[in-house]
Amino acid sequence: MLRDYLRVLRRRKWIFLQAVVIVPVAVVLLAIRQTPLYQASAEVLLKNEDLAASLTGTALQTYQDPIRLVQTQADLARVPAVAQQVLEVAHVPGMTPSSFLAASSVSARQDADILEFSVTDRDAGVAARLATEYARQYTIYRYRLDTAAITSALKEVQGRIRELGPAARGSPLYASLVDKEQQLRTIAALKTSNASLVRPAHGAAQVRPRPVRSGILALGLGLVLGLALAFLKDTFDTRVRSAEEVADELGLTLLARLPEPGRSLRKRNDLVMVTKPSTSEAEPFRILRSNIEFVTLEGGARTIMVTSAVEEEGKSTTAANLALALARAGKRVTLVDLDLRRPFLHRFFDLEVRPGVTDVALGRVDLGKAIARVQLKGSEPKAGSPNGDRPQHTTLSVLTSGSRPPDPGEFVASKALSTILEEVATASDLVLIDAPPLLHLGDAIALSAKVDALLVVVRLKVARRPMLRELRRVLESCAAAPLGFVLAGAELEEGYDYGRYDYYGRAGTSREAEPARRA
Ligand SMILES: Nc1ncnc2c1ncn2[C@@H]1O[C@H](COP(=O)(O)OP(=O)(O)OP(=O)(O)O)[C@@H](O)[C@H]1O
Ligand SMILES: [Mg+2]
Repeated sequence: MLRDYLRVLRRRKWIFLQAVVIVPVAVVLLAIRQTPLYQASAEVLLKNEDLAASLTGTALQTYQDPIRLVQTQADLARVPAVAQQVLEVAHVPGMTPSSFLAASSVSARQDADILEFSVTDRDAGVAARLATEYARQYTIYRYRLDTAAITSALKEVQGRIRELGPAARGSPLYASLVDKEQQLRTIAALKTSNASLVRPAHGAAQVRPRPVRSGILALGLGLVLGLALAFLKDTFDTRVRSAEEVADELGLTLLARLPEPGRSLRKRNDLVMVTKPSTSEAEPFRILRSNIEFVTLEGGARTIMVTSAVEEEGKSTTAANLALALARAGKRVTLVDLDLRRPFLHRFFDLEVRPGVTDVALGRVDLGKAIARVQLKGSEPKAGSPNGDRPQHTTLSVLTSGSRPPDPGEFVASKALSTILEEVATASDLVLIDAPPLLHLGDAIALSAKVDALLVVVRLKVARRPMLRELRRVLESCAAAPLGFVLAGAELEEGYDYGRYDYYGRAGTSREAEPARRA
C-alpha cells in the first residue's frame, strides 16, 4: 500500500515538487513585499461590584452569566462614540472613526474578566498610542454609563432646590431635598469605575510580513496541494508504467521484457535473433524462450498464438524472434502467419513470392511445398560450454499467409485451416502463430479455438488501463488460455535501467529468468 503511494509520488514527482517549491516561494515573496504592519494591545479589567448599591442596601441579587457579561462589554467598546472619543484625544491625521474601528478589535479573554484592545497600524508608535487610548476611553465611557442615572437624579434634585429658592429654607420639603442631594452625592462618590486600564500598550509587535511563518504555512499547504495534485493526475492518467501494473490489470504472468528493436533492425525489417543471436541484445528472447519452455512443461501447449490488444504492438517481431530462439535451441518450430489483414512474416525472411497458408487451404499447393525452411547460421551461448560457442545449423519452418482471402474472418474459422494446423502441429515440436489483434475484430477470437495457448504482447507505449481491462475480458472469452504476457517497449518501463543492470550484473539471469510467477 505504502509502496504504491511512493510509486505514485515518484511517478508524479515533478508536479509534486512544483507545488512544494512554488507555493512557499510565491508566498514568501509576496510576504516580503508587503508593507509592514504593527499591532499593539492594552488590557482593561472588568469588575462587577456595586459598592454604592451594597452600602445603601439597594443591590439586586440577580445572576448573570459572566462570559456573557464580558462579551457584552467587548461589544459595547465597539460603539462609534468611543472611537470618536479616541480620535479626538489621539489626533491621528486621516483616520476616521470607521477606519479606526476597522483597524482595531476588542476581544474578551475566555478565562478572565479582561478585555484586550488591539490596534494595528503601519506605525508602531501610533498603534501603541491608539491601543492605550482606546482602552482608556472605554473605561471613561463605561464610568459615564454606570453613573448616568445618579448624575441625572442629582441634577434634578439640585434644580428643585434652586427653584424653591432661599426663602423656603427651613421648610420640611427643602430639608428633605437637601437630605436627598447629600445621599446622591455619597452614592456618586462611592460609585467606582467598573472598568480600569490595567495594562497600557508597551510598544507594538510586527504582525506583517512574517515571511518565516508564512513560508512554513505555505510549505504545509504546498505539501498537501502537491500530494493532491499528484494523486489526482495519477487517477486521471490511464497509462501504465510497469510490467507489474500490466500483470495486475491482465491477471497474467510476465514472461519477458522486450525492448524496442534497434533502428537499423527496424529499417531493414531484420530480427535480432537473425543478425545478433548471441549478443546481449538477444538475451530477452532467450529469457522468453526459457519461460515459454517452463510454462509449457505441464500444459503441453504445442500451438501458441501470439496476439495483442491492438495493432502495432510487436506481435510479428516477437513471434519471429521467439520462433528463432526456440529453433536455435534445437526445437522443431513452425511459424505461421495468420494475421491475414496485415501479414508481415514474409518480410522478415524475404519470402515475398512464396505461396502461403491460404493457397494450401485452396488446394493450390501442397503444405510441404508452401512451408519455407529458413537456415539458421551462427551460434549462441550454451550453458555449460567453456567458451559459449557451439556452432548449430538448424532450420526454422515458416508458413507465410499467402494470397489474401476475401473474408479473413471466415478463413480463420474454416475447417480447412484446422486441418492444416493439425498437420503442421504433428510435424513440429511447437507451432507459433502470428495472429491479428484481439480487440475490434473477431478473427483472433475465432482463431483461439484452433490453438492450445495464447501469448499476449503488450506494448507499454500504447497500453492504457481501459484497453487492458477490455483485453482481459476478451481473453477470458477465448477458447485457449494465455500462457502469460511479454512487455514490448520495455525500455520505457519505470526503473527499467535497474532491471538492465540485473541482466548484466548477474550474467544471464534476470528477474524474468525466475520461474514465471502468477501476478
Ligand atoms: N519489443 C518491442 N518493443 C517495442 N517496439 C517493438 C517491439 N517489437 C516490435 N516493435 C515495433 O513495433 C512496430 C510493429 O511491430 P510488429 O509488426 O512486430 O507489430 P505487430 O503487432 O505485428 O503489428 P501489426 O498489428 O501490424 O501486425 C514496429 O515498428 C516494430 O519495430
Ligand atoms: Mg504483425
